[in-house]
Amino acid sequence: MPEYSDKVMEHFTKPRNIGELDNPDGTGEVGNPVCGDMMKFTIKVKDDRIEDIKYLTFGCGAAIAVSSMVSEMAKGKTLDEAMKITNKQVAEELEGLPGNKMHCSNLGADALHKAIEDYRAKVKAEN
Ligand code: FES
Repeated sequence: MPEYSDKVMEHFTKPRNIGELDNPDGTGEVGNPVCGDMMKFTIKVKDDRIEDIKYLTFGCGAAIAVSSMVSEMAKGKTLDEAMKITNKQVAEELEGLPGNKMHCSNLGADALHKAIEDYRAKVKAEN
């Protein structure tokens, strides 16, 4: 059993913003080739900011904690700011992840960025 920080355990046992938004402005889904786990983020955008964000994570405890942390970090941020959130920052905010669980943090920011890209592609297509 890997050693998890208190922060990871806290987000794992009480994940924030879990679920899926109705009619999201952007959707981002990624799979982890290492373990086959999946993460899906849905976002609502208003005035270029992430107004609401939810996720579904089919994965390990670390992946669930990562998605919860990413949702907290991204909510209220501008799209440019949210695009700058890195997997490393997410792991740092969680006070570290065990070495063999670092790959789990890759899903979080990647799925968020994909959701933003999806939104931007839709806006472009409409204009
Ligand atoms: Fe799959 Fe952590 S083991 S994301």
